[in-house]
Amino acid sequence: MTGVSLEQKRRLVTDLPGPRSQELMARKLTAVASGVGTTVPVFAARAGGGIVVDVDGNQLIDLGSGIAVTTVGASAPRVVAAVTEQVEAFTHTCFMVTPYESYVAVAEALNRVTPGDHEKRSVLFNSGAEAVENAVKIARAHTGRDAVVVFDHAYHGRTNLTMAMTAKNMPYKHGFGPFAPEVYRAPGSYPYRDGGVDGRAAAARAIDQIEKQIGADNLAALVIEPIQGEGGFIAPATGFLPALASWCRANGVVFVADEVQTGFARTGDMFACDREGVVPDLIVTAKGIAGGLPLSAVTGRAEIMDAPHVGGLGGTYGGNPIACAAALAALETIEADGLVARARAIEDRVRTRLLRLSGTDSRLGDVRGRGAMLAVELVRAGSQEPDPRLARDVSRYAHQRGVIVLTCGTYGNVLRFLPPLSISDELLDDAFDVLTAAFEEIR
Ligand SMILES: Cc1ncc(COP(=O)(O)O)c(C=O)c1O
Repeated sequence: MTGVSLEQKRRLVTDLPGPRSQELMARKLTAVASGVGTTVPVFAARAGGGIVVDVDGNQLIDLGSGIAVTTVGASAPRVVAAVTEQVEAFTHTCFMVTPYESYVAVAEALNRVTPGDHEKRSVLFNSGAEAVENAVKIARAHTGRDAVVVFDHAYHGRTNLTMAMTAKNMPYKHGFGPFAPEVYRAPGSYPYRDGGVDGRAAAARAIDQIEKQIGADNLAALVIEPIQGEGGFIAPATGFLPALASWCRANGVVFVADEVQTGFARTGDMFACDREGVVPDLIVTAKGIAGGLPLSAVTGRAEIMDAPHVGGLGGTYGGNPIACAAALAALETIEADGLVARARAIEDRVRTRLLRLSGTDSRLGDVRGRGAMLAVELVRAGSQEPDPRLARDVSRYAHQRGVIVLTCGTYGNVLRFLPPLSISDELLDDAFDVLTAAFEEIR
C-alpha cells in the first residue's frame, strides 16, 4: 500500500541535477554550513511510496528512506492524517510542563512491541544520538558505574558522548575532540573479515578483552547495534549477541541494544534482537519510529529505567505531540499493513538480484544484511581489498539515472539498500536493473 497520489514510476525529465536543483545547490553553498554534506545533488519537492520527486519534476526511486527513517513511506496516509489533526489541536506544551496522552500512548506501545515480557518504562527524545546518551545516563544511574563498552565499526551518533562511542574518525570525529572519557572499544563479529570466527568465539574474545582492560565491576553498559549500520551493515555471526547478553546479565552490566537503524520491521523482524531471541535490558529506537518526524526513545526494564531522579531525564521537545501522533500512526501502519512480512519479501527479491550479480562479478565481495536492510561490500576483483572508488562510481551512476542509493562502511566500500517498505516490486526491479547496468559499465 503506497497510499499516495504520486505515480510510482522512475521518470527523468531533465539531466540530474536539473536546473532548479542546481540553482538551489548554489544557494545552499552560500547559506548552509559546508560541514553538512549531501549525497544526491537534487532537491526534493514531494515523496511517497518508493518515489522522491525533485524540484525539476524528476521522479527518483528511493532506496535510502532518508537513512532508514521512512519505513512506512514519506507520506504514509495514517501519518499524514494524524499529524494534520495534531497540528490543528496543539503543536507543543512540553511534556514536562503539561503532559498529554499521546506521549503516554507511545510509551505504552514501545513497552508492548519491544523484546521481552517484563515490566518496562520508556522515555522519549528527539534524535538517535540523544537517546543513546540517555541510555548511558540511565545505565550509570542504575549501576553506579562509569565505563561503557562499544565495538569496532560502531556508529552511535555525532554528539560528544556518541562521537566517543562511534568508531570511524572521518567524517564523524576528526578535529572534534576531546571526547567523553570512560568509553572502551571491543572487537566485534565481522564474518566477512574475521576469518569466520563463530559467534560464541567472537563474544569470548570481546569478553576477555573487557574483563582484562576494564573489569566487569567498572562497567555500566555494553552498547551494541545488533546489525551495525553506518559501519557497513555488518550482521554478527549467530550466537554473538546472545553470548554477550548472558555475560552482561551474569555481571550486572546493562545490555543496551542500539536499534536506531534496525528497529521497526526494517530487518524483517520488529526488532533485530528478536531474530535470536535476545532481550536487551534497554533498547534505543529512533529513525523508523515516526514516519519521518523526529522522535527517539529508550525503553527497558522498569527497575533500570526508574533509577534516575525526577528531573534527571527529559528535554524541551522530547516526545513532541506531533511526533507522538506520527509514531502511533506509523506503528499502526507497520502492524496493520504487515510490514514485517513485507521486509522479508523485499529481502528475498533484492538478495536474489545481488547474489545473481555477485555470482558473476567477484567485485561484489559480500552480500549481507536482513530484511530491507541489505548491502554489498565491494572489493577489488578476486581479493578482499576494499574498493571505495567502485562504491562511489556505482552510486553516482545510479544517482544520475534516478536511483537513490547510499554508501557506508568503515572503508567506504559498502553499497547499502534501505527502501521504504511501501515501495513496489516494480520499482525494486527497475532500481536493480540500473545497478546491474552500473556494474556492467563500470570497470
Ligand atoms: C545505530 C545508530 N545509532 C545512532 C544513530 C544516531 O541517530 P541520529 O542521527 O538520529 O542522532 C544512528 C544514525 O544513523 C544509528 O544508525
